[in-house]
Amino acid sequence: MRLVMVGAGYVGLVSGACFADFGHHVICVDTVEAKIEALKAGKLPIYEPGLEAIVRSNAEAGRLDFTTDLEEAVRDADVVFIAVGTPSRRGDGHADLSYVHAAARQIARAVTGFTVVVTKSTVPVGTGDEVERIIREENPDADIAVASNPEFLREGAAIADFKRPDRIVIGTEDERAIALMKEVYRPLYINESPLFFCERRTSELIKYAGNAFLAMKITFINELADLCEKVGADVQKVAKGIGSDKRIGGKFLHAGPGYGGSCFPKDTLALVKTAQDNESPLRLVETTVAVNDNRKRAMARKVIAACGGEVRGKRIAILGLTFKPNTDDMRESPALTIIQALQDKGAVIAAYDPEGMASARELMPDIAYGQNVYEIAEGADALVLVTEWDEFRALDFRRLKRLVAEPVLIDLRNVYPVHETERHGFRYVGVGRLAGAN
Ligand SMILES: NC(=O)c1ccc[n+]([C@@H]2O[C@H](COP(=O)([O-])OP(=O)(O)OC[C@H]3O[C@@H](n4cnc5c(N)ncnc54)[C@H](O)[C@@H]3O)[C@@H](O)[C@H]2O)c1
Repeated sequence: MRLVMVGAGYVGLVSGACFADFGHHVICVDTVEAKIEALKAGKLPIYEPGLEAIVRSNAEAGRLDFTTDLEEAVRDADVVFIAVGTPSRRGDGHADLSYVHAAARQIARAVTGFTVVVTKSTVPVGTGDEVERIIREENPDADIAVASNPEFLREGAAIADFKRPDRIVIGTEDERAIALMKEVYRPLYINESPLFFCERRTSELIKYAGNAFLAMKITFINELADLCEKVGADVQKVAKGIGSDKRIGGKFLHAGPGYGGSCFPKDTLALVKTAQDNESPLRLVETTVAVNDNRKRAMARKVIAACGGEVRGKRIAILGLTFKPNTDDMRESPALTIIQALQDKGAVIAAYDPEGMASARELMPDIAYGQNVYEIAEGADALVLVTEWDEFRALDFRRLKRLVAEPVLIDLRNVYPVHETERHGFRYVGVGRLAGAN
């Protein structure tokens, strides 16, 4: 099949490369010329484990192309996926659909023959209706069906998630579109990934409902962690205790500094707005958004408290900047808020991240960056573990003890058993942990 991915970001690139790997012919389109030039030269604009090899092998095999010329790419396509960004709209928190609408308009001008236009971007309920209206307005003769096919991949594990999804949701009731989408996903269907067809609006809502539920789960355990600290209980064990109940499940029950990233913050907010506009408010999600917003600055207060209530002039080493490990994505990372709040109180920041420093430098040009943990630990009054990269899981505490000014570890991801760091003479502050916990 001939597929087009409009938007060569995390989702477009991963989906495009994986579809090509299934044997389809895929063209990835982006408006950013530098990105397309780099991709053509075999250079990836993002860090995603395993992606480079798939992109290279499929490009070499002639199944994966890159272009800025959307109209040329779309002309012969069977299915065109819209995978452009849907960030929060400045000012009101609604999803900014301008990129989706612009893509729809361009697609309308180029389609020939029957074409399925699929929104893979996360879009509010009713966006498919609007995309269809735009295309019909722009090109009344276009023979198209508009379907919704939300993407559930996680950055950092995107290839595995795309190739072995729990389910594939497709929102369309158009028989021709159903047939084509079955063909697109046939290689996965054979691997028994269930295809789930539903109405377009239902499909659009499934994506938001899923993200909001996960965000709520994280926020629930984060609040419980605070309670654990007050009442002398250990949140790790509470999470294990409840998570082994199959009705609850153990995933997304790790207490930490609050959720970030390119999806949860904007999607929870957009869902709240949609619900309010439809006079059917989602109070649980509204509260989740508010609690999570407060939490990031609260983590800075936790660091300040661990430093004796004062950080002016103190050196704080930040381990990890990206919103989670195995990505270079800094969008809405808790590190941004935590660092800002610490700087507001006069702290001097040195940071290290295995993959995120290039984008971090653009967002935070005024902090120091090191080449590894030991470099930033030199003379530090506190180490703050913000992102649980693998290379932070086996730190050489003996070496660190010699480097730091004060042996204090604030472990915002509960990576270490309390007693392990204390054995090396570090004062340990976790999230919702009991003293001496393992
Ligand atoms: N990142 C994730 O983990 C993830 C997971 C699931 C769903 N999503 C959703 O997928 C969508 C895309 O997210 P992303 O993280 O890949 O975004 P991204 O910002 O990484 O990529 C979007 C790309 O679209 C390009 N673009 C914008 N307008 C265009 C146009 N008219 N024509 C061609 N290209 C255009 C941009 O230049 C950019 O490269 C969003 O709606 C997001 O919510 C993201």
